[in-house]
Amino acid sequence: MTAPLIVGNWKMNGLRADLEQAREVAASLAGRRAARVGICPPATLLAAMGQALKGSAVLTGGQDCHAEAAGAFTGDISAQMLADAGARLVIVGHSERRQYHGERDEAVAAKALAAVGAGLEPIICVGETFEERQAGRTLEVVSRQVAESVPEALAGRAFAVAYEPIWAIGTGLTPTPAEIEAAHAAIRLALGVRGAQAPILYGGSVKPANAAEILKVAEVGGALVGGASLKAADFLAIIAGAG
Ligand code: PGA
Repeated sequence: MTAPLIVGNWKMNGLRADLEQAREVAASLAGRRAARVGICPPATLLAAMGQALKGSAVLTGGQDCHAEAAGAFTGDISAQMLADAGARLVIVGHSERRQYHGERDEAVAAKALAAVGAGLEPIICVGETFEERQAGRTLEVVSRQVAESVPEALAGRAFAVAYEPIWAIGTGLTPTPAEIEAAHAAIRLALGVRGAQAPILYGGSVKPANAAEILKVAEVGGALVGGASLKAADFLAIIAGAG
């Protein structure tokens, strides 16, 4: 079995002083290989974090990338630029990007392709809204998002999918293990041959108290952690939940 992938998404949080948290994570994990671990800081910290984590196995990643390699796209950052700054991972299609920046599946798929083209491992996010879950449409919604956000051309390339129910992000609410298992099974089915090896991460209010239980659910290949990844102690406790 491959080691689970545990990734911290710092979102729009973190100043240089907070690199200390990342250093603490790297120091505590030294020599331990039970999980692959990554941190996706804001782009302003990416290069400095790469320096801070130098010599450790902790990967760095971006939180988004543009589909083009370069050009007149003020404010955007390409996958090549992230790779150049030392990133190995990039989150694409996070629900906050979909919600606040109007990103649709087609754009997410283009970003994922750009990411692998730049040598990055994209983490492609999908997840239903509260209303969709209430309407019993969760499996249909995540299956469609996978079909449209994960390009066929990713077959055989390193990438991950993150199942992040929107209503569970930053709310303290989480689906039951059975609900997580059902969503991950639907995602695995929708991935088909294009993602037979791709880990499917769970994200949404992962904390030290629930990490071990979530990480042992069938088809959960890791976690995407927001708020609880900002403090080294909490993030380390979650990583410890991976065994
Ligand atoms: P959360 O965020 O852990 O703070 O709920 C997860 C995410 O949005 O990736």
